[in-house]
Amino acid sequence: MAKAPVIVLLGGGQLGRMYIENALRYTAEVHVLDPDPKAPCARVASRFVIGDFRDKETVLRFAADADVVGIEIEQVSLEAMEELKKQGKRVIPDPSVLRIIQDKGLQKQFYADHGIPTSPFALIEKRTEIAAHAHLLPAFLKTRTGGYDGRGVMPIDAVSDAESAFDGPCVLEERASIALELAVLVARAANGTEVAYDPVEMVFDPKLNLVDHLRAPARIPQHVADAAKRLARRVTSAFGEPGLYAVEMFLTKDDELLVNETAPRAHNSGHHTIEACASSQFDQLLRIHCDWPLGDAALRSKAAMINLVGEGGTGSPELIGADDILHLPDTFIHLYGKHETRDGRKMGHVTVLSATDLGIDQAIAVTKVHCRVEPMRAKQREQQTNNN
Ligand SMILES: Nc1ncnc2c1ncn2[C@@H]1O[C@H](COP(=O)(O)OP(=O)(O)O)[C@@H](O)[C@H]1O
Ligand SMILES: [Mg+2]
Repeated sequence: MAKAPVIVLLGGGQLGRMYIENALRYTAEVHVLDPDPKAPCARVASRFVIGDFRDKETVLRFAADADVVGIEIEQVSLEAMEELKKQGKRVIPDPSVLRIIQDKGLQKQFYADHGIPTSPFALIEKRTEIAAHAHLLPAFLKTRTGGYDGRGVMPIDAVSDAESAFDGPCVLEERASIALELAVLVARAANGTEVAYDPVEMVFDPKLNLVDHLRAPARIPQHVADAAKRLARRVTSAFGEPGLYAVEMFLTKDDELLVNETAPRAHNSGHHTIEACASSQFDQLLRIHCDWPLGDAALRSKAAMINLVGEGGTGSPELIGADDILHLPDTFIHLYGKHETRDGRKMGHVTVLSATDLGIDQAIAVTKVHCRVEPMRAKQREQQTNNN
């Protein structure tokens, strides 16, 4: 096996942290840039630099000694990525891919241009234009840049909703009648070889608009699973560049598959692969970064992944109910080491494996009933301070 190159990662959140956990198995060195000195990667990276990954000069300085430049968040300096590629570094995702994906408008247009099914849409500059596209209602309005985890997405039921809508450049897209939300992860190597994971089924929290839990494999007929994998690979071959891609799609009530959006990086919909597959999404990404052969993506067991999302306000996080699930078989707790919990913030996740759908149902229910992340209560905080 060729020695691992020096890998730099822009962004130091949980995706970076899980990437590093795996990279350490191969003694690969990962350097991380993030503005937050207490980011999840701060204490696990080989080198952690505090700085803004949106700033071109900061990124160029940080990545000067890198062989490989990777991301764990899309909102990084595109200009820096372009410049680093010119310098001969392996930049993944390719800047041409990142440019399209950073802008939901360009992304939708890309699908349309490549004949990839996606819900009908219009690109608008300001909210007063919504009325001219009333035929798309009920719709979703999405800011073209900067949104994530449901922020930057709002439902528009009627033209009157336009008054309180986002007012910048947006995508207005017809609301799909969704039977299931699916995601397919595809790993694409530099030589064009691809490996696709089995589609997963994502269950969204309707209030937070982010993934509550997922099940793998998705409970869909084999021919739909095959079609979802084929569609995901149409997306990745249209991009035509190496990388790890998470293709989110809707299965409509008419059994149609529509691509929603693609993330060119590790993704929440692939966390179960750490325990449920021989080669996890993080392992696959490392292999792509190092130009090693891709790994085995076959699902070894049915699995569910339940996000632990902050509730009950802001403060030092405390995982409640862990004792009730720690003794369960095939159950894995992941905490991201964030120093502050907030309502709706992803603080960790639990993965469960089971041979049966019933086992998965029960594990999801038990985890959701017992486990939650809340701000530490004052008394405990006091106790902890005294102990330290
Ligand atoms: N056209 C649509 N029809 C129906 N639901 C949608 C549509 N677009 C988005 N949604 C819902 O909103 C969620 C978030 O939208 P998405 O574009 O994936 O934004 P984010 O970047 O926050 O993940 C989707 O997972 C889905 O539940
Ligand atoms: Mg999404």
